[in-house]
Formats: sequence, structure tokens, C-alpha cells
Amino acid sequence: RGLWAVVPAAGRGARFGGDVPKQYLQVAGEPLLAHTLRALLAHPTVQGAVVALAEGDERWPRWREIEGKPLLTCVGGDARADSVLAGLAALPDSVRADDFVLVHDAARPNLASADLDQLLERGRNDPVGAILAAPVRDTLKRSGDDGGIDGTEPRERLWRALTPQLFRRLQLTRALEAAQASGIEVTDESMAMERQGLRPLLVEGADDNFKVTTPADLARFEFVLARRG
Ligand code: C5P
Repeated sequence: RGLWAVVPAAGRGARFGGDVPKQYLQVAGEPLLAHTLRALLAHPTVQGAVVALAEGDERWPRWREIEGKPLLTCVGGDARADSVLAGLAALPDSVRADDFVLVHDAARPNLASADLDQLLERGRNDPVGAILAAPVRDTLKRSGDDGGIDGTEPRERLWRALTPQLFRRLQLTRALEAAQASGIEVTDESMAMERQGLRPLLVEGADDNFKVTTPADLARFEFVLARRG
């Protein structure tokens, strides 16, 4: 059975600097968002995507399909969770309440098909769902108010949460609504699920499924594309 994706792309890119939101930065003649959507929709299991755009977004190129698969849009919100909720609400009716959906960052263009295979294979057999994640490789320090080091966090069992994340449509909607109602900012979908007492599965993905956050990340993606040829 096919699967739909929600792609939050309503960020204004404040951290990147400059006035072009990062999803619209040009890479190899196309906006970053085009690369991300292609990587996602090229997967045979992915049937279509809803892209959550910032209100008044005039850069969206009005694509109706990519890789021959339908693209729908909706207006996102102030926080990522608001954008994902809007995307979930805009999914077609053919996506049932207990169907799994993928959520994937617009700013994460380097998704490998093998990672998506793993996520789908393992996540769809889990009652809750799953996320791609990568083990932490640096030593982690906790700082005090004065900038001094208060301690070292053991990095065993610490992971960086990546996307896509795979959850059931209604259960994710309820979890995000609950987080919204409690005023807690969830920085990924799993965090909302965890707050419901649920335990999604971690699926180890490639380190290079990175989120473009700084100009150096953009250069890294350009390098990846050049090497791919
Ligand atoms: O800000 P951050 O890098 O965590 O954003 C991750 C993804 O969430 C990006 O693709 C961004 O466009 C999206 N986002 C959104 N709505 C917001 C904030 C972020 O769709 N209000």
C-alpha cells in the first residue's frame, strides 16, 4: 500500500541569515526543496506529498507533481508542529486515520532510498512507528550559566533525531494537538508521541541525511551532488 508524506516547508530560515528561506536557496539550478521532494517521491512506496508553506509564500513554484506523483500544498504555522498539523489535515481522504504517514523536513535533501527502505520496513511493523536517527559521535558537555562546563553527558544511547519520521495519521495528529494545547514546543514529531507515553522505534540512518541550517551545510550538499555526477 502506498504512503503519503507531509513536508513542513514553512520555516522562514531566520538562523541561516539572508532573506531567502533555506528551502528556496538554489542548488544546482533548483531550489533546495525540489531536491528534497524528489528524493522522497522517487521512492516507489511514496504515493504523494503535502507541502506546508509559509503564509504568503510567493516563491513556491506551483509544482503539481514531482516524479509523476501528486503534490498538494497547505499553509503552515508559526511553529513546526503547527505546519505539520496543517499538512496532516490537508492529506487526501484516501489516507485513513490509522494509515502511516511520513513527515520529512524540507531542508533535508540528502535522504538515501536505502534509509527510507529501512524506516518503512521496520516502522510499519511497529505499533507506534519509527524515526531515522544517527548516533551522537562527539562528546557532549552541559554548560553552566557562566559558560563553564558543569558536566559531560555519556553519549552511549544518545541519538540525533533525523527525518523522515513515520507515524499513524490520527495518532500523530492527536499527539501534536496535545503538545500544542500544553504550550510545549516539540522539535520533532517523535517528541509529541513520546509525551503521550508512546515509544517509537529508532532506526539507524546515514549520518549524511543532514539538515541544511548553515551556508556550510549548503556547500556540503553541493559537494554531494557534484560527487554523484
Ligand atoms: O527550523 P528547523 O530547521 O527545525 O525546520 C525544520 C523544517 O521545518 C524545515 O523544513 C522548515 O521549513 C519547517 N518549518 C515549518 N514551519 C515552521 C518552522 C519550520 O514548516 N513554523
